[in-house]
Amino acid sequence: MAKQVKTIGVLTSGGDAPGMNAAIRAVVRKSLANGLKVKGIKKGYMGLLNEEIIDMDRRSVSDIIQKGGTILGTARCMEFTTAEGQAKGAEICRKHGIDGMVVIGGDGSYRGAQKLSAQGINTVGIPGTIDLDIACTDYTIGFDTSINTAMEAIDKIRDTSSSHERVSIVEVMGRHAGYIALWCAIANGADDILLPEKYDYNEQRIIDNIIDNRKKGKTHHIIVNAEGIGHSTSMARRIEAATGLETRASILGYMQRGGSPTCKDRVYASMMGCYAADILAAGKTNRVVSYRNGQFVDYDIDEALAMKKNINEYMYEIARIL
Ligand code: ADP
Ligand code: F6P
Repeated sequence: MAKQVKTIGVLTSGGDAPGMNAAIRAVVRKSLANGLKVKGIKKGYMGLLNEEIIDMDRRSVSDIIQKGGTILGTARCMEFTTAEGQAKGAEICRKHGIDGMVVIGGDGSYRGAQKLSAQGINTVGIPGTIDLDIACTDYTIGFDTSINTAMEAIDKIRDTSSSHERVSIVEVMGRHAGYIALWCAIANGADDILLPEKYDYNEQRIIDNIIDNRKKGKTHHIIVNAEGIGHSTSMARRIEAATGLETRASILGYMQRGGSPTCKDRVYASMMGCYAADILAAGKTNRVVSYRNGQFVDYDIDEALAMKKNINEYMYEIARIL
């Protein structure tokens, strides 16, 4: 049954992502417009358990839409994965008059939101992760900025790789998922792409491909390797030994998680923030906001967490053919 909320909390949890600030801003301003009070919880569930809670008004979120990171801070919190931690979190919410909560983060953060909902706090999740690894949605906040950052970096590596006639392995983030690698492989015209979802451990195929390309006159060879496979430095050593060609590994790392969000991340995060504010105001709980087939929609968290996501086969084929 729908429960009317009066005061909502908002927190960011798990790895930060560019666009989280745009989402916070939207949650705050739309909730105020809906006649609710808003409190910000610092440092995710850890800040909730430490009662790091601040009042938020329109001005609290001024001048942040263009900023990377999250003004609320984020953290990972083991204590909140325990039943005691969750009961304490719900009790702290009640103490501060918080009867609704927007959680911006990934799958793990949704599990926390699910537990808070079971404790009587209305919750809505918003997908915030550069990894795009949330099954219920075609879009996650930060992915677009991240792939643009990685794409620009790989273009630069290609320049120097061509000048020196080297092989370059570029490792991109994504945790266990290969979406960042897949998009960059297409955008950067990579010669080889290694995704955890598809990897067959056949390094000889890569070596043969490099030698073949060199014979055809290609001066560089870019391999985009996903973090889920890793080992780029040792792979570079083995490829250099097998091909006789200078091979370098570049691990892009945390630069992919920072920076000013792209237009898409600002707009979609703003839409999702407002959508979350509206469904909380309508009394819904245990929901997640998603973008599916060109529409903003919401799902039950239990249903969302049970969904499976696979690498798009056609995109993978294109990445290999082009
Ligand atoms: P993400 O949200 O990006 O997937 P994590 O998996 O690190 O990142 O989860 C973020 C936080 O969510 C964890 O540090 C923890 O506090 C909370 N969390 C994760 N799993 C659970 C769970 N099963 N129950 C309750 N809280 C959880
Ligand atoms: O989930 C985002 C992400 O950047 C992943 O791509 C990466 O595996 C992970 O976070 C790194 O997490 P941490 O900040 O704990 O090193």
